[in-house]
Amino acid sequence: MSDDLVNLVYLLAAVLFILGLRGLSHPRTAVRGNLMGATGMLLAVVVTLWNEDIVGFEVILAGVVVGALVGTLFALRVPLTAIPQLVALFNGFGGAASALVAGAALEAALLKVEEPDVQFTVASAATALIGSVTLLGSLVAFGKLQGVITERPLLIPGRHIINVTLALVCLGLAAWLVIDPTSSIAFWALAGVAALLGILLVIPIGGADMPVVISLLNSYSGLAAASTGFVLDNNVLIIAGSLVGAAGFILTSIMSRAMNRSLANVLFGGVGAVVASVAESDEVYAGKVKSTSAEEVAMLAEVARRVVIVPGYGMAVAQAQYAVRDLVNLLESRGVEVEFAIHPVAGRMPGHMNVLLAEANIPYDKLKEMDEINPTFPQTDLVLVIGANDVVNPMARETDPSVPIAGMPILNVDEARSIVVIKRSLSPGFAGIPNPLFAADNTLMLFGDAKQVAQDLVAALGR
Ligand code: TAP
Repeated sequence: MSDDLVNLVYLLAAVLFILGLRGLSHPRTAVRGNLMGATGMLLAVVVTLWNEDIVGFEVILAGVVVGALVGTLFALRVPLTAIPQLVALFNGFGGAASALVAGAALEAALLKVEEPDVQFTVASAATALIGSVTLLGSLVAFGKLQGVITERPLLIPGRHIINVTLALVCLGLAAWLVIDPTSSIAFWALAGVAALLGILLVIPIGGADMPVVISLLNSYSGLAAASTGFVLDNNVLIIAGSLVGAAGFILTSIMSRAMNRSLANVLFGGVGAVVASVAESDEVYAGKVKSTSAEEVAMLAEVARRVVIVPGYGMAVAQAQYAVRDLVNLLESRGVEVEFAIHPVAGRMPGHMNVLLAEANIPYDKLKEMDEINPTFPQTDLVLVIGANDVVNPMARETDPSVPIAGMPILNVDEARSIVVIKRSLSPGFAGIPNPLFAADNTLMLFGDAKQVAQDLVAALGR
């Protein structure tokens, strides 16, 4: 295959990646975008394997079939609530693959007694550094989300000095590799030290900041792939890696703005992280929590003109989206205006609530983002908070930095006339702190599983 033809196919793949990313920016076009990106990747992989005479046609086909089977199995078996962990693993494996490919390319060059040039060694060192940080950082993030490692920030004494020292050692090893390209030991030592750095960078970050960490690691995995592209002189790897790096970085800044975490805090792991010394739940709730029944809430909803539903992680756990759709249809048939308030970090992954509600065919135009819906709460008769907690926690308005969600913009549901919170108990949300909303004068708690409660509400309204 001529180089021109290969580059033409790579260009086509790159165009598909860009169109794919564009498609992913809206739920309506997301599936098509995903398919375009996957097609681009298939083209790039097949052309590379073929062109370089790495494997035969049969092996490529076998790889596609096995890969598609594994991918389908994951897609079917992993619940939506565990997608962030899966993404963490994908990022980590991406980083590991990049580092291993660069290492293999270096060893292969040395076996052929070729002296690698400066581009090769600089890019190899960058890949070892970023790839290893991504692998171990992602494994720690996976452990935190999966509950294998504590979600609380683990603040090792003197960690900043240790991190700076490790970063300097990495730079030293990278310089050694560039000065003496035959020293593959410098490459592997760099990968090992960077792995340790990856652990230490993520371990001090609390569970509530994990979304930002995951998207940052996603960006790192792209950068690692792009630098492997420079090692191999492979254009499509450079383009695809840069796209992932940039997209991950943009998502990181959107997420950190939504959670009011500075990017520096994430980048330098745990800067400014303080061990929470928040009020105990007894202090917040004692004697102030009022519980209600589905029948009472049905009566409130019937006389309401405007109802806003705030979905959260609990709605995903309960798989309540279909019952919630039935509730919305029933309320609308009674002339009640219903909208959904979507917080950017509700649930456990970006766009989690949008995906769930789209699954139940709830029209996109009913889904309002935080900035759009917040000014409307004072004119809202009833808010139904379904399995959400942190995203409606007024404690976020505290300036005390010991409150883990301090400064995070929230949905101002407490400004509505009445609020009904549907959850199973008074347990805290992801951030692990009590929620004064549950004890507010205008709040009623409707305890139970979100799906069951939504079905009970439908039944009560239908009577
Ligand atoms: P959370 O604050 O995590 O609260 C979810 C609530 O759902 C819990 O308090 C739980 O209370 C309730 N729940 C669980 N299962 C339920 C069920 N079957 N039926 C009814 N309720 C149930 O959720 P949120 O308000 O959506 O906030 C998201 C949090 O996750 C934020 O802190 C965010 O930073 C973090 N986070 C977000 C992401 C992304 S990207 N979205 C990723 C990782 C972490 P009970 O146990 O009492 O029922």
